[in-house]
Amino acid sequence: MNVTIIGTGYIGLVQGVVMSDLGFDVVCIDSDKAKIEILKQGKSPIYESGLEETLKKSLKNGKIKFTLDYNSGIKNADVIFLAVGTPPLADGSSNLNYITAASKNLAQFLSKDSLIITKSTVPMGTNKKIKKIISDELKKRNMDNLNVSVISNPEFLREGKAVYDFLNPDRIVVGIDENDNKEKIKKEIYKIYEYFLKKQIPIIFTNLETAELSKYSSNAFLSVKISFINEMAMLSEKIGANIEDVSKIMGFDHRIGNEFLNAGLGFGGSCFPKDTLAILNIGKNNDCEMSIVNSAVKFNDDLKDILIKKIKNKLEDVNGKTISVLGLSFKPETDDIRESPAIKIIKKLINLGAKIKVYCPQGMEKTKKEFENYLDCIKYCKNEYECAKNSDCLILTTEWEQFKNIDLERIKSVMKSNYFFDFRNMFSDNQNIRNYFHYYPIGRN
Ligand SMILES: NC(=O)c1ccc[n+]([C@@H]2O[C@H](COP(=O)([O-])OP(=O)(O)OC[C@H]3O[C@@H](n4cnc5c(N)ncnc54)[C@H](O)[C@@H]3O)[C@@H](O)[C@H]2O)c1
Repeated sequence: MNVTIIGTGYIGLVQGVVMSDLGFDVVCIDSDKAKIEILKQGKSPIYESGLEETLKKSLKNGKIKFTLDYNSGIKNADVIFLAVGTPPLADGSSNLNYITAASKNLAQFLSKDSLIITKSTVPMGTNKKIKKIISDELKKRNMDNLNVSVISNPEFLREGKAVYDFLNPDRIVVGIDENDNKEKIKKEIYKIYEYFLKKQIPIIFTNLETAELSKYSSNAFLSVKISFINEMAMLSEKIGANIEDVSKIMGFDHRIGNEFLNAGLGFGGSCFPKDTLAILNIGKNNDCEMSIVNSAVKFNDDLKDILIKKIKNKLEDVNGKTISVLGLSFKPETDDIRESPAIKIIKKLINLGAKIKVYCPQGMEKTKKEFENYLDCIKYCKNEYECAKNSDCLILTTEWEQFKNIDLERIKSVMKSNYFFDFRNMFSDNQNIRNYFHYYPIGRN
């Protein structure tokens, strides 16, 4: 089966590479020339475990192609996936310009009945708009006799575990327009997702709006869960409780579950911040207050200031101090720094006059671009020890596995002073750490 994917970012690239490995013939279209060139050479522009190896294999086998050209990319497609970005605008609403442009472009080259599958996270009603854009373009070409269905198939994978998650989803959601031929579309979906059917992954068929909302609801719920436990962590610090034990106790309750209950410095990344803002905007436009999501978003922002205040109090001041930050990506095993809490903390510290040293196993290159205009305030280091050298304070912001192996004595010996803020509680159970450092985890002593 010939599969075309439009948008070769974190979602489109992972999907394209994995589907090519499953035996599909895949063409990935992207408008970014530099990205297409890199991909053609078998190099992945993003870091995801296992991705580059599979990409190289599929290129060698001729199962995947990359192009800027919609014409060659669309003409043989049996199914077309839309996976372009939907970043936030200033008012929190989703920027749908990429979706509109991709829909118009693809419609110019459709020559047979087609199934368009939207993977991008889009506000309710967008898939119907995509259908209208395509129909209007086809009319201009006098090809409105073509039968085009646009369905919603939101993606739930986690960055950092993207390849694994793509192959092992908890469920597959398929939203179909009430005016489309549901049975025909179901058959096509069963063919495309045969691999998942065999694994007995549930496929939930529903209408377009439900599928669209289900993605926002899931991300908003997880964001609420994170802000909730972080709020409890701040209270724990005040009253002498231990948030890790609180989380454990709560997590044993099956109604609550133990995931997303690790206190830390808040949610970030390309999805939770954007999708919570989008749902607030959608609520506003539909006269629904969405006060729960609103509080989670507000607390997530406030948390950075609470933590900065904590650092300022302990160090007395941060102006002129050298602060080392370990971890830049918004979570481990990815190089994605979009909306990373670490980046937000660094910006606040720079504004307060701190000199920053950073190290991250994967997030360095993207951070260099982000801080292009702050050359004098930030130093990029080769490893944890170079990062800690001559600094007043260490902040651990992302829980990369390799940080667990840090030689604490060595780190302490190269630092000027010995303050350690562990915003991921990676060392909170290590009794030694308190011998080496003034040690401050989150939500406990
Ligand atoms: N990143 C995640 O973990 C994740 C998870 C679930 C869902 N999503 C959703 O998936 C969508 C894509 O997210 P992403 O993180 O992969 O974005 P991304 O920014 O990494 O990638 C988007 C890609 O689309 C390309 N593009 C933009 N306009 C184009 C056009 N007109 N034609 C061809 N290519 C075009 C860009 O050049 C870019 O390579 C978003 O809606 C996002 O909310 C993302």
